[in-house]
Amino acid sequence: LFIEAHDRMLILGIESSCDETAASVVRDGRLVMSNVVASQNELHEKFGGVVPEIASRAHIERILPVIDEALMQAKVSLRDLAAIAVGHRPGLIGSLLVGVAAAKTLAWSLAKPLIGIDHVQAHLYAAALDSDPIAFPSLGLVVSGGHTSMYAMASPLQMTLIGRTIDDAIGEAYDKCAAILEIGFPGGPLVDKLAVSGGGDEKAVKLPRSLLDAESLDFTFSGLKTAVLYHVRGFPKGRGPTSHFERSAADLSAKEKADVAASFQKTAVEIVIRKLERAVNFLDAHGQRPRSLVIGGGVSANSRLRSETAKFADHLGLAHRMPKMAYCIDNAAMIAGLAFARLQSGSVDGLDLEAVATTSL
Ligand code: KG4
Ligand code: ZN
Repeated sequence: LFIEAHDRMLILGIESSCDETAASVVRDGRLVMSNVVASQNELHEKFGGVVPEIASRAHIERILPVIDEALMQAKVSLRDLAAIAVGHRPGLIGSLLVGVAAAKTLAWSLAKPLIGIDHVQAHLYAAALDSDPIAFPSLGLVVSGGHTSMYAMASPLQMTLIGRTIDDAIGEAYDKCAAILEIGFPGGPLVDKLAVSGGGDEKAVKLPRSLLDAESLDFTFSGLKTAVLYHVRGFPKGRGPTSHFERSAADLSAKEKADVAASFQKTAVEIVIRKLERAVNFLDAHGQRPRSLVIGGGVSANSRLRSETAKFADHLGLAHRMPKMAYCIDNAAMIAGLAFARLQSGSVDGLDLEAVATTSL
């Protein structure tokens, strides 16, 4: 009985770094007992992107009901918790502050440990939720709206950055592609859907597959985005305030839009695969050949990225680890999950924990 009680470590995770207010209870860093996510999509849609001031106000309204709901769904009370974890970096500072203040208040009033988690690192833990532990060393790939990075991972908590985007993140490129095609917000899932079931031809539009220098492990997506813009709208005419494009997305037929989406998706995923190839070779050359490929972040929900990286990993004999769909986009289960590893390593934070705009990685 003692062992049973000791084994069941419940952690409450809180996440508010961008436009999702989320709370979750995770048992032993693995079993997700609740995963509540309140999305703000409808609030930001008309602006075509996340408006920081609107996001932080919405977090304030939602944070307590979301935490309550997570505890209720997990059927646990605050007293049952072993620790309170919060995503405290990176993100929009006003948004992060809401989650951090809530977590500190709970930790202080309940006299429970407080654990501040790096959101990017948590994305790479998501694949272990409701699943088996990840085999290390691992090659980690984060593909989200704010990040496109590769890491050499020795454990869930020890990772070294080996490549990152020098301009746009892949999710940002997806969102801009959707904005250029005028198909809605947030764009990533809509481009994915149009690419797969819109009847488009993935070879119809020639788009640049920029890989930077021959050895580079960094990414660039801004050229791809600009190529989509010029393909859809023609070249800009004139300069300054009177400059304008030749066409608009409304001039494209449904088939032509689907061609753009399919060609964009093919190119974006191809770039990722080529970089993963280089990363495995790089790690191999340094005697750190990975045993697994672990992927996380919003774009890990992408159908083509999932299937192409599965083939790639299979081909190289790496375990292919992807989060379940619910843990791809921003969520608090990944925060609570990674916090378990921190608690086990004996590292917790004080009430002076700060919200920080940048990643620690
Ligand atoms: O991880 P996430 O929820 O937030 C950040 O930490 O950035 O990622 C959001 C990003 C958005 O750019 C969204 O368009 C993209 O993930 N995304 C997708 C798909 N689902 C979400 N991109 C491509 N295909 C998808 N199926
Ligand atoms: Zn994220």
